[in-house]
Amino acid sequence: MTIQWFPGHMTRARRQIQEKLKLIDVVIELLDARLPLSSRNPMIDEILQGKPRLILLNKADLADPAITREWIDYFREEGFAAIAVDASSGQGIKEIPDLARELLKDKIEKQLAKGMNPRSVRALIVGIPNVGKSTLINRMAGRNIAATGDRPGITKSQQWIKVGTQMELLDTPGILWPKFEDQNVGYRLAVTGAIREEILNIEDIAFFAVKYLAKYYWEPFAQRFEIKEAPQDFENPDEIVAVMEAVGRKRGCLMSGGRVDLEKASSVLLRELRAGKLGRYSLEAPY
Ligand code: G4P
Repeated sequence: MTIQWFPGHMTRARRQIQEKLKLIDVVIELLDARLPLSSRNPMIDEILQGKPRLILLNKADLADPAITREWIDYFREEGFAAIAVDASSGQGIKEIPDLARELLKDKIEKQLAKGMNPRSVRALIVGIPNVGKSTLINRMAGRNIAATGDRPGITKSQQWIKVGTQMELLDTPGILWPKFEDQNVGYRLAVTGAIREEILNIEDIAFFAVKYLAKYYWEPFAQRFEIKEAPQDFENPDEIVAVMEAVGRKRGCLMSGGRVDLEKASSVLLRELRAGKLGRYSLEAPY
């Protein structure tokens, strides 16, 4: 799903999340482990108004594990609870209810001290489009998934999904917009397929990807496309384009006269990258 965001949409999205904040105890902020800052809403701190927050680095199965560990340290140093998960397989999600309760430890202890029986922790998942919110909700819901109103004729109302015995999740996540102002953020999102290619030029997206991968993940790249020579100077655009041409030749993306069709080569390259054929990679690192 790709959403075109306009100021009016942002205001509405923000308002919708803030309405939901009244109903919940904890926010689960979903980020893409391959690009945690680029997949983060620029106004998140302001929008969440200090609600206790658990950060999940999702799609960790696709990211470079060493860099993901660095990101976890980074967010923990910032004072957040943070873990890596893979919503598709369910890896890591069992920890979520305990971590959420841990965030509310003081409140729960006070309730217990007053002889009250603490109710389930209520949580809301938020994140930008495509970061895996629906996948995570479905995973956490397991067999308890509530009937939702995506079909015509059914009024959509908010429902709580039970997660084990001590947590409830709002079935509709909060959808946030990414940070548009920074072009590199746009490229990182486009490389992963999180934003539509038509917004940026496909050859520019592939160029951005090749430049980064050649620098940090050359071996799997070179192996996959059987390229012998690594670029000497990553800042030299001609050398990066030469790598793209080598990919095109390898995949038979040629025009009449034998010239490489760079647009086709870019499309093939991005498809293989997104399908995980080039191995695990991260597009930004904290340190
Ligand atoms: P959203 O609600 O935040 O918009 O995201 P959604 O759950 O629809 O997930 C977007 C895409 O990301 C889906 O792929 C989904 O399968 C994939 N995804 C979500 N979590 C993970 C994860 O932890 N690891 C991996 N590898 N992929 C994940 P899709 O291609 O749009 O659909 P499909 O392939 O599932 O049919």
